[in-house]
Amino acid sequence: MNQKISSTLLFVTSNPNKASEVRKILNKNGISFHHMNASYQEIQSSSLKTIATESARCLYERLKTPLFLEDSGLFIEQLSGFPGPYSSYVYKTIGNSGVLKLMFTIANRTSRFESVVAYAENDNDIHLFSGIVLGRIADKKKGKGWGFDPIFIPRNCDETYAEMGIESKQRVSHRYVAFTKFSNWFKTHG
Ligand code: IMP
Repeated sequence: MNQKISSTLLFVTSNPNKASEVRKILNKNGISFHHMNASYQEIQSSSLKTIATESARCLYERLKTPLFLEDSGLFIEQLSGFPGPYSSYVYKTIGNSGVLKLMFTIANRTSRFESVVAYAENDNDIHLFSGIVLGRIADKKKGKGWGFDPIFIPRNCDETYAEMGIESKQRVSHRYVAFTKFSNWFKTHG
């Protein structure tokens, strides 16, 4: 495969699960990058795109090298999109058990996972790529996986992301959709 080597392309995330999923997707597409294991401050917004754009802009100002990051979230229809942009905080606080409790009496469990990739190559040039996977919240935790993987069942599937295992998740996930768009663009632009 054609390798596009960029010695300074950075993926900034403190989440090792994200880093490993993204490495597999981008490697398959011949894109190499350095993982910068760091957290960064995020603005508050109801829009993942706005959060990702501002994070990428701030990081580029500090690091001055081409970089990308990903902001993602789980949006539950009957909870008006909650936890959405607050997914990380909600996972750390009430976790999957708390989300299942909130959903206890709710029959319609429709939800979606969203991923937004923001790529910055200069101060004013932020490119966004998004991936959405529709699905539903499981009745209970199933399988071993990180984050909300044990409670999210993608549409047309019977298993949670966690039960599917990483290889199958990688073929359908919100992250796969967003990073495939990013890869296709990155390989051809400029
Ligand atoms: P952020 O993108 O780092 O803001 O994280 C959003 C939160 O959503 C993460 O902390 C996870 O709890 C959750 N999340 C995002 N993507 C996934 C996924 O693929 N599986 C499970 N949980 C996820």
